[in-house]
Amino acid sequence: MDTKKLGFNTKLVHAGVSKDAYGSAVTPIYQTSTFAFDNAQTGADRFAGRDDGYIYTRIGNPTIRALEKNVAELENGFDGIATASGMGAVSVVYMSVLSQGVHLVSTASVYGPSRGLIEKQFCKFGVEYTYVDTSDVDNVRAALRPNTKLVYLESPSNPAMLVTDIRAVSEVAHQHGALVAVDNTFASPHLQKPLDLGADIVFHSVTKFINGHADVVGGIIVAKDREVYKQLRATMVILGVNMDPHQAYLVSRGLKTLSLRVERAQENAMKVARWLEAHPKVAWVRYVGLESHPQHELVKRQMNGFGSMISFELKGGYEAGRNLMDNVHLATLAVSLGGVESLIEHPASMTHAGMSPADRLEAGITDGLVRYSVGIEDVNDLIADLEQAIGKV
Ligand SMILES: Cc1ncc(COP(=O)(O)O)c(C=O)c1O
Repeated sequence: MDTKKLGFNTKLVHAGVSKDAYGSAVTPIYQTSTFAFDNAQTGADRFAGRDDGYIYTRIGNPTIRALEKNVAELENGFDGIATASGMGAVSVVYMSVLSQGVHLVSTASVYGPSRGLIEKQFCKFGVEYTYVDTSDVDNVRAALRPNTKLVYLESPSNPAMLVTDIRAVSEVAHQHGALVAVDNTFASPHLQKPLDLGADIVFHSVTKFINGHADVVGGIIVAKDREVYKQLRATMVILGVNMDPHQAYLVSRGLKTLSLRVERAQENAMKVARWLEAHPKVAWVRYVGLESHPQHELVKRQMNGFGSMISFELKGGYEAGRNLMDNVHLATLAVSLGGVESLIEHPASMTHAGMSPADRLEAGITDGLVRYSVGIEDVNDLIADLEQAIGKV
């Protein structure tokens, strides 16, 4: 079935599913490392690219392909590449586009390890970089150099919830001949389609919203055009960071309900954010759905909803943040996000504890900041849990 012209929810359920010999309703787990060739000619044809049958699971596998094709259609891209983790996807993007003497411009408050990979590893091979607040397009313009080959964005960013104008930045980057890659993990393709906004590459930690059930780690990349796709796939295959068929099966299963989960969670998030904003012990709330978010108007233009990630600052600072962690009972005290269950964490003492206080402040991570990934539970229960916990702070 050609699913390309169908609506987003229909694609979620049907795109990428191919008929097999038994008429399976969903793509089964092809748990095999290798695929037999009928004869020597078939083997030669597959290696030469004259026959698109499967060779070896690191290169391609039907269960993994079903997920790749599905997400490629959701993101309106040419094709997808699934990886072992979100960081696997980030590594493939960097490795594919960057080389010695090449310069990267990126969002300062990007996911820590995405920045660490450049500053601790790629710099060893002569890659240059500039991190700026990409929510101001003028900062990106000023940072571009003749050797800039990649503009790497995360929007909304984690946990500062800064939003970058993907269309405006893509125009500026393309005038300089640089590619634009967007980490779309926080939004998911249900809420934001960076390729439609001008980006060349979009990728996700599928560990989050795409899988949505906190039981798989994985990543996926979608390229807008064939040439970039071919380069990314070749890099993934040679790095060996492929997804596993069983992982791909679980992600495909979770993905089918993406819209339902995201819609429900963002409905909860709006109520939780408004409740927090009115609380006397809360200094401020950063949620892209609130009128108080500095880029609320851009979010309405660029995104198809507000999602379910909230950051808020407790008036009592560091100790208050830690205290809250010990008193919530319903939200799980854990890193990660985008699952059906609500997750809460305190970046200053947990995910971002390794940064210096000065770097944390520059990235907008204050001492009392709490990150809350709102799930699909009954919102009254979530608010009651926060109420009793904040009461003890
Ligand atoms: C925005 C973002 N990008 C990338 C990653 C890395 O993904 P993974 O943990 O699946 O390797 C994460 C993980 O938290 C993330 O939040």
